[in-house]
Amino acid sequence: MERTFAIIKPDAFKADQAGKILARIYAEGFKVVGLKKLYLSKVEAEGFYAVHRERPFFGELTDFMSSGPCVVMVLETAGAIKKWRDLMGATNPAQAAEGTLRREFGSSVGENATHGSDAPETAAFEIAYFFSGLELLS
Ligand code: RTP
Ligand code: MG
Repeated sequence: MERTFAIIKPDAFKADQAGKILARIYAEGFKVVGLKKLYLSKVEAEGFYAVHRERPFFGELTDFMSSGPCVVMVLETAGAIKKWRDLMGATNPAQAAEGTLRREFGSSVGENATHGSDAPETAAFEIAYFFSGLELLS
């Protein structure tokens, strides 16, 4: 079993799509071992996306991620990291495959509905950034 970290981003939460996205998560066989709604501050968003600090879109990205509530989750299944990224689809919703979450719920490369960890090390950092061990008992 593998765990990954996922976010229903502020655009999707604001559009009342959190329920539909969670339904897909369950339908695809993930176990939801952690889940909470948060309204990130700018500083909290900057800390989360610190790996992108030098990128030209860092300011825009962290403004967006702190623009409204989101849902943070820990998802568990065999091969969870890749499986969740496959379900999300390409970063740019216009390039995301039919049936993926970003294709269905994203509107632009910046406002793309969901986040997912890209490797075991980033999953470990991201899970620990938002959840304590006690919150992940299952
Ligand atoms: P994420 O981390 O959110 O799951 O997305 P990702 O791995 O598919 O993409 P990544 O390269 O890690 O970029 C993180 C987020 O930054 C925004 N972005 N904006 N304006 C741009 O060119 C641009 N490029 C990336 C996206 O919201 C992306 O999800
Ligand atoms: Mg990424």
